[in-house]
Amino acid sequence: MVDAAPLLSIRNLDVRFKLRTGVAAALSSGPKVLKAVDDVSFDVRKGEVLGLVGESGSGKTTIGKALLRLYEPHAGTILVNGVDITHMGAGRLKPYRRNLQMVFQDPLSSLNPRHTVRTALATPLLLHRICANDEVDARIDEALSKAGLPTSFKDRYPHEMSGGQLQRVAIARALTMSPGLVVADEPVSKLDVSVRAQILNLLKDLQQKFGISIIFITHDLRVARYLCHRVAVMYFGKMVEIGPTEELFASPKHPYTRALLGTLDESAESLDGGAQIAGEAFNPTTDSVGCRYLSRCPKKVARCATAHPEFEDVAANHSVACYEWRGG
Ligand SMILES: Nc1ncnc2c1ncn2[C@@H]1O[C@H](COP(=O)(O)OP(=O)(O)O)[C@@H](O)[C@H]1O
Ligand SMILES: [Mg+2]
Repeated sequence: MVDAAPLLSIRNLDVRFKLRTGVAAALSSGPKVLKAVDDVSFDVRKGEVLGLVGESGSGKTTIGKALLRLYEPHAGTILVNGVDITHMGAGRLKPYRRNLQMVFQDPLSSLNPRHTVRTALATPLLLHRICANDEVDARIDEALSKAGLPTSFKDRYPHEMSGGQLQRVAIARALTMSPGLVVADEPVSKLDVSVRAQILNLLKDLQQKFGISIIFITHDLRVARYLCHRVAVMYFGKMVEIGPTEELFASPKHPYTRALLGTLDESAESLDGGAQIAGEAFNPTTDSVGCRYLSRCPKKVARCATAHPEFEDVAANHSVACYEWRGG
């Protein structure tokens, strides 16, 4: 089908949190507002893996939860196959909830310790009436096999499994819903280094075999490079650059993307690049109008303080939010 709507479109997404505690609230009259996600737009096509990268606190998880409607956006639009689900009521939302699944960083905390794998996987199947009662077991077996686990794991409890096995169960649970899109939120960062590659390869296989789209959230650029077709770089709630993976790595345009990539060689095991970038980080509770990267940017000019730059096209599918990206 030509010109089909993207599987997912996010337009001008804005998610805010009210902060009621701490010094900030005590000093101001009302609650402080934290702009966790500020005017973010992107599409995910069918079968595409889009990486969301950026240091901790940049709003990656918030985007994932907002697009699943686990957080209510302050503004913006979420379209699934061209249908606006931003304010859809629970009843109509159900099929979309099923189509969009999330795999979390810590598999143990997303599973009930008192439930066997069978119960954990059967509950959403029954809730969404995906299949008849007598088909539930077969459906669970199929999902476990796809996730690379023996079907005998149905009778296990979470404490009887390793971190990698638990993450496979979480992935199997998502697969039982036959989702079009899986949001994988740092799915390997809590796992032993030795099993990370297995889980990444599993996700890659599932994407290739079943054409599932994935939003892959990670602070580790090397993992993003391995898995993603395109990568979007987040900095304190703002998307600053998005482009095809190889092009972004070969020819990064935003000073923040460049700084992140510059930290790649030195870091040994995993990367939380921001900690290594000089300069003071942005304070997301301020009402700053300028570029959020201003305080760290080696290329800043006067107008960077007056308005956050709009996205400009660098090449096909590659855009950047920086006034000075041409400067080399
Ligand atoms: N439920 C919440 N309540 C208040 N603040 C939150 C909540 N979730 C996230 N935040 C804040 O929003 C910002 C973005 O967080 P998050 O989306 O978790 O970033 P990331 O996943 O990139 O590390 C952070 O400053 C974080 O402290
Ligand atoms: Mg996160």
